[in-house]
Amino acid sequence: MSTPSARPDKHDHRTLGEQSWAVHGGNRPDHTTGAIRTPIVMANSYLLPDDPTSLDDADPDLLVYTRESGANQLGLQAKLAAMENGEAAAVFGTGMAALHAAFFTLIGPGDHAIVSNVVYGRSQGLFDTLLPAKMGVEVDFVDITDLAAVRAAVRPTTRLVHAETIANPDLRVPDIAALATIAHTAGARLTVDSTFTPPPLARPLSLGADLVIHSLTKYINGHGDAMGGAVIGSRELIDAVKTGALHHIGGAIAPFNAWLIMRGSVTLPLRLRQHCDNASAIAGFLHDDHRVAHVAYPGLPGDPQHARAAAQFSGGYGGVVSFALAGSHEDRVRFVNDLRLITSAVSLGHDETLIAYEQYTGVKAHAFAAPFREHGLIRLAVGLESADDLIADLDAALTATYGRPAATHS
Ligand SMILES: Cc1ncc(COP(=O)(O)O)c(C=O)c1O
Repeated sequence: MSTPSARPDKHDHRTLGEQSWAVHGGNRPDHTTGAIRTPIVMANSYLLPDDPTSLDDADPDLLVYTRESGANQLGLQAKLAAMENGEAAAVFGTGMAALHAAFFTLIGPGDHAIVSNVVYGRSQGLFDTLLPAKMGVEVDFVDITDLAAVRAAVRPTTRLVHAETIANPDLRVPDIAALATIAHTAGARLTVDSTFTPPPLARPLSLGADLVIHSLTKYINGHGDAMGGAVIGSRELIDAVKTGALHHIGGAIAPFNAWLIMRGSVTLPLRLRQHCDNASAIAGFLHDDHRVAHVAYPGLPGDPQHARAAAQFSGGYGGVVSFALAGSHEDRVRFVNDLRLITSAVSLGHDETLIAYEQYTGVKAHAFAAPFREHGLIRLAVGLESADDLIADLDAALTATYGRPAATHS
């Protein structure tokens, strides 16, 4: 018995159109049963070859033990690598496990990291507390859209620059190619969390990023039911991520979740179009409504992020709209509770629209536009419902708290 080949797929999916790779990428018919979809392989271990000492230990994808590799993981990896124009991918149990694995691989004691001052809260927590305290990493949080500030933060020990393509939650958009140049000139690596802009919206590796990270929990799975994470990049870096962080720290994805995410990802390009169209319509509605104090959406022509977003993204500006409502804290709580179709919950990229009202503190809040600092930030993760129904829901809840719209913005 020899271990099945872990590596290449039947087709090079990079040569296919977006919906073709979404359908075919990483799927392997099951030769035992003839099933045309890869089955869910719920096994902790795989048969060893007749001579176990013949195994190539240098191959991190060997099918031996499911913490390290598995049939469902391999399919998902192949699909994600093709989607992102990467040589290889590593998959994990959550987006945070993937982010941690990337950072753990690239930086160590005494190294310096430049991190966007607006990133997902748990990523911020890694950099402002855990990595400095546990690994002796030094960190500067900077406005990642201000290239002069990024350049000024570089030190001889800088080994990492980290940003999100669209920052959670204030939706700022950095110039990825310019960040890659700054990082590489400094002898550092650029990691980009592209959770808000999965392919085909953005491909950070093609813009010079060294590793791209996804929370698969969001758009790539798309159905709000499974968690996962991925790191994608060169074969050399991904092998290091696997042999170090995945194999030894063990944040493996369950085969069932890998299978669910494979299934969800089949419709990713189609779903993204609806997410983006809906978000764009809702951002326009909120922007034109005087009851709304502030709207951030990179697709709005007047948004300060719009030019960078238009230059880097293809086919839309993502499915998240952030806005601020004036009035009291109680008014905003009432607004959220008056919504009927839209669900108050964290996360994004689900089929249903989710809303989360938060008042932020700390380094991130300090970086926000004034209305978000003053009134808190309401993040709307726009789903796949009809835009008219979502707008009607928002309008009714605004009217219940703030009265009918009196006029429109000019
Ligand atoms: C931008 C971003 N990156 C990473 C994560 C973490 O992903 P997970 O929840 O799958 O660990 C999140 C979660 O909300 C996120 O918004």
